[in-house]
Amino acid sequence: MNPKNEEFARLREQCLSCRDCGLCETRTNVVFGVGVDDAEVLFIGEGPGENEDLRGEPFVGRGGQLLDKMLAAIDLDRNKNIYIANIVKCRPPKNRDPLPEEQEQCIKWLRQQFVILRPKIVVCLGRIAAAKIIKPDIKIMKEHGTFFVKNGIYMMPVLHPAALLRNPNNKPAAFEDFLRLQEKIKEICDHTY
Ligand code: URA
Repeated sequence: MNPKNEEFARLREQCLSCRDCGLCETRTNVVFGVGVDDAEVLFIGEGPGENEDLRGEPFVGRGGQLLDKMLAAIDLDRNKNIYIANIVKCRPPKNRDPLPEEQEQCIKWLRQQFVILRPKIVVCLGRIAAAKIIKPDIKIMKEHGTFFVKNGIYMMPVLHPAALLRNPNNKPAAFEDFLRLQEKIKEICDHTY
Protein backbone atom coordinates (compact mmCIF):
# COMPACT_ATOMS: atom_id res chain seq x y z
CA MET A 1 0.00 0.00 0.00
CA ASN A 2 1.35 3.46 -0.82
CA PRO A 3 1.17 6.15 1.93
CA LYS A 4 -1.82 7.97 0.39
CA ASN A 5 -3.66 4.66 0.20
CA GLU A 6 -3.15 4.08 3.91
CA GLU A 7 -4.17 7.63 4.79
CA PHE A 8 -7.35 7.28 2.75
CA ALA A 9 -8.15 3.92 4.33
CA ARG A 10 -7.74 5.41 7.82
CA LEU A 11 -9.85 8.47 7.00
CA ARG A 12 -12.58 6.34 5.41
CA GLU A 13 -12.70 4.15 8.49
CA GLN A 14 -13.21 7.19 10.75
CA CYS A 15 -15.78 8.74 8.43
CA LEU A 16 -17.86 5.56 8.24
CA SER A 17 -18.58 5.78 11.96
CA CYS A 18 -19.33 9.54 12.02
CA ARG A 19 -22.39 10.60 14.03
CA ASP A 20 -21.73 14.35 14.08
CA CYS A 21 -25.06 15.44 12.55
CA GLY A 22 -28.64 14.21 12.31
CA LEU A 23 -28.14 12.66 8.86
CA CYS A 24 -26.53 9.64 10.54
CA GLU A 25 -29.98 8.65 11.88
CA THR A 26 -31.50 8.04 8.45
CA ARG A 27 -28.54 6.90 6.34
CA THR A 28 -28.07 3.36 5.06
CA ASN A 29 -24.42 3.92 4.14
CA VAL A 30 -21.90 6.71 4.52
CA VAL A 31 -20.81 7.70 1.00
CA PHE A 32 -17.16 8.54 1.56
CA GLY A 33 -15.98 8.90 -2.04
CA VAL A 34 -14.65 6.93 -4.96
CA GLY A 35 -11.66 7.15 -7.24
CA VAL A 36 -7.93 6.82 -7.34
CA ASP A 37 -5.75 8.22 -4.59
CA ASP A 38 -3.27 9.87 -6.95
CA ALA A 39 -6.02 11.77 -8.79
CA GLU A 40 -5.13 15.29 -9.88
CA VAL A 41 -8.75 16.14 -10.59
CA LEU A 42 -11.38 16.09 -7.82
CA PHE A 43 -15.13 16.23 -8.57
CA ILE A 44 -17.41 17.39 -5.75
CA GLY A 45 -21.18 16.89 -5.63
CA GLU A 46 -23.63 18.00 -2.97
CA GLY A 47 -24.67 14.79 -1.24
CA PRO A 48 -25.83 11.21 -1.80
CA GLY A 49 -29.26 10.44 -3.21
CA GLU A 50 -31.22 7.22 -2.73
CA ASN A 51 -29.09 4.99 -4.97
CA GLU A 52 -25.87 6.34 -3.52
CA ASP A 53 -27.14 5.78 0.03
CA LEU A 54 -27.98 2.17 -0.84
CA ARG A 55 -24.69 1.45 -2.62
CA GLY A 56 -22.31 3.59 -0.56
CA GLU A 57 -20.82 5.17 -3.70
CA PRO A 58 -21.30 8.67 -5.17
CA PHE A 59 -23.15 9.25 -8.44
CA VAL A 60 -24.43 5.76 -9.22
CA GLY A 61 -28.01 6.67 -10.24
CA ARG A 62 -29.20 8.08 -13.59
CA GLY A 63 -27.32 11.32 -12.99
CA GLY A 64 -24.20 9.30 -12.26
CA GLN A 65 -24.55 7.38 -15.52
CA LEU A 66 -24.74 10.66 -17.42
CA LEU A 67 -21.73 11.94 -15.50
CA ASP A 68 -19.73 8.78 -16.33
CA LYS A 69 -20.57 9.24 -20.03
CA MET A 70 -19.45 12.86 -20.04
CA LEU A 71 -16.28 11.88 -18.18
CA ALA A 72 -15.54 9.07 -20.64
CA ALA A 73 -15.84 11.53 -23.55
CA ILE A 74 -12.85 13.43 -22.14
CA ASP A 75 -10.92 10.30 -21.08
CA LEU A 76 -11.78 10.52 -17.39
CA ASP A 77 -12.85 7.52 -15.36
CA ARG A 78 -13.60 7.14 -11.64
CA ASN A 79 -11.63 3.88 -11.61
CA LYS A 80 -8.58 5.26 -13.43
CA ASN A 81 -7.73 8.90 -13.00
CA ILE A 82 -10.12 11.04 -10.91
CA TYR A 83 -11.71 11.17 -7.46
CA ILE A 84 -15.39 11.92 -6.73
CA ALA A 85 -16.70 13.05 -3.35
CA ASN A 86 -19.61 15.03 -1.92
CA ILE A 87 -20.00 17.97 0.45
CA VAL A 88 -22.11 15.81 2.80
CA LYS A 89 -21.41 12.11 3.10
CA CYS A 90 -24.88 11.00 4.19
CA ARG A 91 -28.16 11.28 2.30
CA PRO A 92 -30.44 14.14 3.29
CA PRO A 93 -33.97 12.70 3.73
CA LYS A 94 -36.12 12.90 0.57
CA ASN A 95 -33.09 14.33 -1.25
CA ARG A 96 -33.58 17.81 0.21
CA ASP A 97 -30.65 20.22 0.02
CA PRO A 98 -28.14 19.62 2.81
CA LEU A 99 -28.65 22.22 5.56
CA PRO A 100 -25.86 24.75 6.16
CA GLU A 101 -25.16 23.19 9.58
CA GLU A 102 -24.93 19.68 8.05
CA GLN A 103 -22.49 21.01 5.44
CA GLU A 104 -20.49 22.75 8.14
CA GLN A 105 -20.25 19.57 10.25
CA CYS A 106 -19.36 17.34 7.30
CA ILE A 107 -16.89 19.54 5.43
CA LYS A 108 -14.07 18.35 7.72
CA TRP A 109 -14.03 15.02 5.88
CA LEU A 110 -13.75 16.70 2.49
CA ARG A 111 -11.01 18.98 3.85
CA GLN A 112 -9.02 15.91 4.87
CA GLN A 113 -9.64 14.26 1.51
CA PHE A 114 -8.29 17.46 -0.03
CA VAL A 115 -5.17 17.36 2.14
CA ILE A 116 -4.41 13.78 1.12
CA LEU A 117 -5.15 14.24 -2.59
CA ARG A 118 -3.79 17.76 -3.14
CA PRO A 119 -5.76 18.05 -6.41
CA LYS A 120 -4.70 20.51 -9.12
CA ILE A 121 -8.22 20.93 -10.45
CA VAL A 122 -11.54 20.84 -8.59
CA VAL A 123 -14.84 20.53 -10.45
CA CYS A 124 -17.96 21.47 -8.47
CA LEU A 125 -21.04 19.62 -9.65
CA GLY A 126 -23.94 22.02 -9.19
CA ARG A 127 -24.72 25.16 -7.22
CA ILE A 128 -24.54 23.76 -3.69
CA ALA A 129 -21.01 22.41 -4.08
CA ALA A 130 -19.88 25.49 -5.99
CA ALA A 131 -21.34 27.82 -3.33
CA LYS A 132 -19.57 25.95 -0.54
CA ILE A 133 -16.21 25.49 -2.30
CA ILE A 134 -15.83 28.40 -4.72
CA LYS A 135 -17.94 31.34 -3.52
CA PRO A 136 -21.23 31.62 -1.62
CA ASP A 137 -22.94 33.86 -4.19
CA ILE A 138 -22.11 31.70 -7.23
CA LYS A 139 -24.55 32.14 -10.14
CA ILE A 140 -24.37 28.64 -11.58
CA MET A 141 -26.28 29.35 -14.81
CA LYS A 142 -24.05 32.34 -15.55
CA GLU A 143 -20.71 31.16 -14.19
CA HIS A 144 -20.60 27.44 -15.05
CA GLY A 145 -17.54 26.63 -17.14
CA THR A 146 -15.47 29.48 -15.66
CA PHE A 147 -12.19 28.69 -13.93
CA PHE A 148 -11.60 30.35 -10.56
CA VAL A 149 -8.18 30.07 -8.92
CA LYS A 150 -8.10 29.63 -5.13
CA ASN A 151 -4.86 28.89 -3.29
CA GLY A 152 -3.29 27.95 -6.61
CA ILE A 153 -5.98 25.37 -7.39
CA TYR A 154 -8.13 25.68 -10.51
CA MET A 155 -11.81 25.37 -9.64
CA MET A 156 -14.67 25.12 -12.11
CA PRO A 157 -18.41 25.04 -11.39
CA VAL A 158 -20.42 22.89 -13.81
CA LEU A 159 -24.12 22.10 -14.13
CA HIS A 160 -25.28 19.21 -11.92
CA PRO A 161 -26.00 15.99 -13.91
CA ALA A 162 -29.47 15.74 -12.29
CA ALA A 163 -30.22 19.25 -13.57
CA LEU A 164 -29.13 18.14 -17.05
CA LEU A 165 -31.54 15.19 -16.87
CA ARG A 166 -34.34 17.63 -15.98
CA ASN A 167 -33.28 20.07 -18.67
CA PRO A 168 -31.48 18.29 -21.54
CA ASN A 169 -31.32 21.56 -23.52
CA ASN A 170 -28.37 22.50 -21.34
CA LYS A 171 -26.35 19.39 -22.24
CA PRO A 172 -24.36 20.98 -25.12
CA ALA A 173 -23.29 23.89 -22.89
CA ALA A 174 -22.35 21.45 -20.13
CA PHE A 175 -20.29 19.44 -22.58
CA GLU A 176 -18.43 22.58 -23.69
CA ASP A 177 -17.43 23.03 -20.04
CA PHE A 178 -16.04 19.49 -19.99
CA LEU A 179 -14.01 20.24 -23.13
CA ARG A 180 -12.61 23.31 -21.39
CA LEU A 181 -11.76 21.08 -18.44
CA GLN A 182 -9.96 18.67 -20.75
CA GLU A 183 -7.84 21.52 -22.11
CA LYS A 184 -6.90 22.62 -18.59
CA ILE A 185 -5.97 19.04 -17.65
CA LYS A 186 -3.68 18.82 -20.68
CA GLU A 187 -2.13 22.14 -19.73
CA ILE A 188 -1.38 21.56 -16.04
CA CYS A 189 -1.66 17.89 -15.07
CA ASP A 190 1.24 15.45 -15.01
CA HIS A 191 -0.69 12.28 -15.80
CA THR A 192 -1.17 11.41 -19.40
CA TYR A 193 -4.95 11.34 -19.63
N1 URA B 1 -25.98 13.97 -6.45
C1 URA B 1 -24.88 14.41 -5.81
O1 URA B 1 -24.66 15.62 -5.68
N2 URA B 1 -24.03 13.48 -5.34
C2 URA B 1 -24.22 12.18 -5.49
O2 URA B 1 -23.39 11.40 -5.04
C3 URA B 1 -25.38 11.76 -6.17
C4 URA B 1 -26.24 12.66 -6.63
